[in-house]
Amino acid sequence: MHIHILGSSAGGGFPQWNCNCTNCDGYRYGTLRARRRTQSSITVSGDGKGWVLFNASPDILQQIHDFAALQPNRRLRDTAIRGIVLIDAQIDHTTGLYMLREHTEPLDIWCTEPVRDDLTHGNPIFRLLNHFCGVRWHPLPIDGTAFSVDGIEGLRFNALPLKSKAPPYSPHRENPHLGDNIGVTITDTRNGRSAFYAPGLAAIEPHVWNAMQAADCVLVDGTFWTDDEMIRVGAAPKRGLELGHLPQSGPGGMIEWLDRLPAATRKLLIHINNTNPVLDEDSAERAELAAHGIEVSHDGLELEL
Ligand code: MLT
Ligand code: MN
Ligand code: ZN
Repeated sequence: MHIHILGSSAGGGFPQWNCNCTNCDGYRYGTLRARRRTQSSITVSGDGKGWVLFNASPDILQQIHDFAALQPNRRLRDTAIRGIVLIDAQIDHTTGLYMLREHTEPLDIWCTEPVRDDLTHGNPIFRLLNHFCGVRWHPLPIDGTAFSVDGIEGLRFNALPLKSKAPPYSPHRENPHLGDNIGVTITDTRNGRSAFYAPGLAAIEPHVWNAMQAADCVLVDGTFWTDDEMIRVGAAPKRGLELGHLPQSGPGGMIEWLDRLPAATRKLLIHINNTNPVLDEDSAERAELAAHGIEVSHDGLELEL
C-alpha cells in the first residue's frame, strides 16, 4: 500500500497564523531548522490510482495541489479520491469538506454515528453540503468489523473506538461517547502489511495496544511533548490530556509505549502541534526521538508497505 502524508500538523498548522512561540517565530524568521506543516490528513491507496482520504483538512486544496496523484485528469471534472474516512468531527479534520463541494456526485464519507451527529447539528457541514454535492454517509463500524471503500483495490479497513476528545462544539466534549474518536488499521490484502493511524490518542487502552502491536507501521498522536506544553508556552490554560492528546515525554508517555513495540515496527508521530519542540530539527527532544527510533512525519512523506 501507498500512504502519503498530506498534513502532519495539528489544528492551526505550523507555523500558526497568530502564533509567535519559539517555533512559529523561529520558522518565520529562518532562525530555526524546521519544515512548514499543513493540518492533519493522510491519503492511502492500494493500486496508486484510487485513494482514500483520511480527514478533510482546512488545507486540503493546497494538499491536493501538492500531490498530483489525486488529480488523474480522466475527464473535465475528476478526482482520484474515492472515499473519505473521518477520524472524528474536529475542525482540523472536517473543514476541508466544504472545499470539496464542487464534486460531481455526493461525497462518500465513512464516519461513526456520533461524528455524523456532530456534523449534522453542532457544526452542520453535512446539511450545508446538501445544498452543493451532497453526502453519502457510510456508517463506520467500530465493533472490529472490516469495511472496504468502493473503487479502492486491495485495502481493508478496521476501526476501533479510542479515548481522545470530541470537538469543543460537541455535546460530547465532556461526556464522551463510543465512536467520538477512532483509530484505523489499514491492511493491504495482497501482502498482509498494515498501518495503524490515530492522530488523536489520549490513552492506550488494551484494544488499542493490540492494534498497535499488530501493525507494521504506527502513525500516532504527536501533538505535545509535555502535558503542560500549552500552559508553559502561554498559549492556552489546557493540559494535553484534557485536549485528548497523550504527550510523548515522561512516565506513561508515547515514547515509553512505542519503545515496547516490536523492533521492526516503523514508528511515526503525526498531528504535531506548533508548540512541540520536536519540530525544531536541532532540538534535544528531536534527538531523543531519533534515539528511540521514532520518526516525525512531515508533509509529502511517502510510506510504502
Ligand atoms: C485537537 O486535535 O485537539 C483539535 O483538533 C484542535 C483544534 O483544531 O481545535
Ligand atoms: Mn486536531
Ligand atoms: Zn506557535
